[in-house]
Amino acid sequence: MTILRVEDLSKNFGGLQVLSGISFTVEPGEKLALIGPNGAGKTTLINVIGGQLSASGGDVFLGNRRITRLSPNRRLRLGLGRSYQVNNLFFEMSILDNLLLALFGGERSHFQMFRRLEKRRELVEAAERLLETVDLFERRHEPLQAQSYGDQRLVELLCAFACRPQIVLLDEPTAGLPTAEASLFADVIRRLAGDTAVLFCAHDMDLVFNLADSIMVLYFGEIIAKGLPEEISADPRVQEIYLGGDDGC
Ligand SMILES: Nc1ncnc2c1ncn2[C@@H]1O[C@H](COP(=O)(O)OP(=O)(O)O)[C@@H](O)[C@H]1O
Ligand SMILES: [Mg+2]
Repeated sequence: MTILRVEDLSKNFGGLQVLSGISFTVEPGEKLALIGPNGAGKTTLINVIGGQLSASGGDVFLGNRRITRLSPNRRLRLGLGRSYQVNNLFFEMSILDNLLLALFGGERSHFQMFRRLEKRRELVEAAERLLETVDLFERRHEPLQAQSYGDQRLVELLCAFACRPQIVLLDEPTAGLPTAEASLFADVIRRLAGDTAVLFCAHDMDLVFNLADSIMVLYFGEIIAKGLPEEISADPRVQEIYLGGDDGC
């Protein structure tokens, strides 16, 4: 069954129409890249799907369930995970505690419950297993703020996938990373995701072509193409945007 279905979604900020007539689906396990020039509306679309922004029109379905008006946390509990372009972790806490918090719902209001749950060995073990997959196990008790930016982004990814959501939304997962580190992220995301579907937007074309099963192109708030990577790179309109424009992305 289709994991995510977006139907005729639109978003405007006052008089500014940022998204219009957005319709697409994401299938189980699919890794779908959202590309487009700066200002095309990628972040806005991710935020409307995640619930951080309300839709001006249209609907979002997770499986058969209409989630258009639900809060981000309700969506998260239903299996719609997400990470952020800007870090939203707890920098003074350890790597392990950040991950435990993600496993428990990621909210400060859950902190008391978290303290009790921390004693549940199986949850700590699950978090530790995740940390082993990205070589962060040895440093699990170190504060997040002591880690490199790349490792912080890695923890952010671990947190996004920790609860095994049905789909994770990622906004520019390699933004700000040096090329050498960024080039490792496609593999890491694929490994962490497993069967979880991923909808991600990126300027980083290495990431797009190394991770995506399919690509969707957003241009001035409308989807102008969606297809397999080879179809998209051969699409004349997409070539025009990327080669003809001055955006360079
Ligand atoms: N909160 C907001 N209020 C008004 N305009 C916004 C807001 N957020 C984004 N925009 C505008 O929406 C357009 C799309 O922005 P964005 O979704 O960030 O694009 P992208 O992520 O593709 O670069 C831009 O013109 C931007 O200025
Ligand atoms: Mg953006």
